[in-house]
Amino acid sequence: MSNDRNHFEEYREQTRVKHEILEKYLRAYLHVLKRWNNNLLFIDGFAGPGAYQNNGSSQPGSPIRALSLISSDAELAKRVTTVFIEKDKQLHEDLQAEVQSFYRDNPNIREPICLNNEFREGMEIMLQPFEKKSRSLAPTFLFVDPCGVNGVYFDTLARLMNFGSCEIFLFFNIDGIRRILGLGEARGDTLAQFFGSDREAEDLLKAIENKSSTEKEDLIIARYYDIVKRDIGANYITGFRIEKENRRTVSHYLIHITRHELGFRIMKSIMWGVGKTEAGRGGLALMQKSLTDGHVLFDPEWDAFKQSILKELTAPRKADYFYHDLTSRSDNLFCEPAYREALLELEQVGSIIVLDSKGKPTTASTRRRYNGKPTLSDKHTITIRSQGK
Ligand SMILES: C[S@@+](CC[C@H](N)C(=O)[O-])C[C@H]1O[C@@H](n2cnc3c(N)ncnc32)[C@H](O)[C@@H]1O
Repeated sequence: MSNDRNHFEEYREQTRVKHEILEKYLRAYLHVLKRWNNNLLFIDGFAGPGAYQNNGSSQPGSPIRALSLISSDAELAKRVTTVFIEKDKQLHEDLQAEVQSFYRDNPNIREPICLNNEFREGMEIMLQPFEKKSRSLAPTFLFVDPCGVNGVYFDTLARLMNFGSCEIFLFFNIDGIRRILGLGEARGDTLAQFFGSDREAEDLLKAIENKSSTEKEDLIIARYYDIVKRDIGANYITGFRIEKENRRTVSHYLIHITRHELGFRIMKSIMWGVGKTEAGRGGLALMQKSLTDGHVLFDPEWDAFKQSILKELTAPRKADYFYHDLTSRSDNLFCEPAYREALLELEQVGSIIVLDSKGKPTTASTRRRYNGKPTLSDKHTITIRSQGK
């Protein structure tokens, strides 16, 4: 039995988190785009069999999760086409059975398409007719979820992104990439496919020479982001780091690629809410080993973030400036919920004052509460509390 098949014999926390992000974001993406489009497309490029077995119980895989959220909304059911690509014959047959059974029970959706192909071939089947006739493809959300690194062709991702409003959610196997980089002559051409050319793969090899593991990781990610920005023209990229279960090192990233500021802001907020970090709040990471180690809650990044907020307050600012304007900048990985939380903390320690729409000072206890927590709406104005006040 191949490693790829073994993957479906256990439903791990990191898989659950990946599915949660996918479901939440896909729902948002489809709902935003359905306002202007009668046709939308979801492609699951490494679809698997549609189900995970976990201690005798079954958990839906990404195809069934996508179909469920589409069928639960009448508008989406009418408008969204789904395509599932799976290269393994047995897994494809299992997938076909799962998907057909779902379709029989939910005939309100468009009939799903299952392709027994390599990702690259499946995408060729999908894209070529549109490219040939210079027709526009429906806005497409592409999920690229390999077990390893093989089969993820950068040129295929770039071809899809040539069409408007398309986005990609990618399992970026940094551990696998590090391993292949260390293979010397036996490396093959996987890296060239993944990074787009032999030249990119060789440049990366040179760049990581004699670097520590963390430095390598940073360089690999930064290089990929640069290539995506340069060759795809997508400037909004968010990476969510997944730590290994048994070691305090990174296993992989989940990477979202879009040209659209709104998508970027929504994805950051979703990832932040799903994230688990040592500091006990959300974040763009799922810590696993670190959390079981019970490390001290100390977060210099969060403190620096709060300082950066104070620096912005050379003049009073609407909360919306933080929630919207700053989070729209492609180099800012903080999201609206992070700003909200930081502003409330700064208010609590007396560093800032929150004014209502009439300019009257408020306190957390005089404002509306939501789920038992104080709120700070985008209409409020923030000023810095000057020394001695
Ligand atoms: C991590 S699993 C996918 C899990 C699935 N996305 C989910 O969340 O339920 C990766 C799948 O991709 C398939 N696969 C591997 N290489 C492929 C390729 N080049 N093209 C298409 N499918 C591939 C494997 O057989 C495996 O089923």
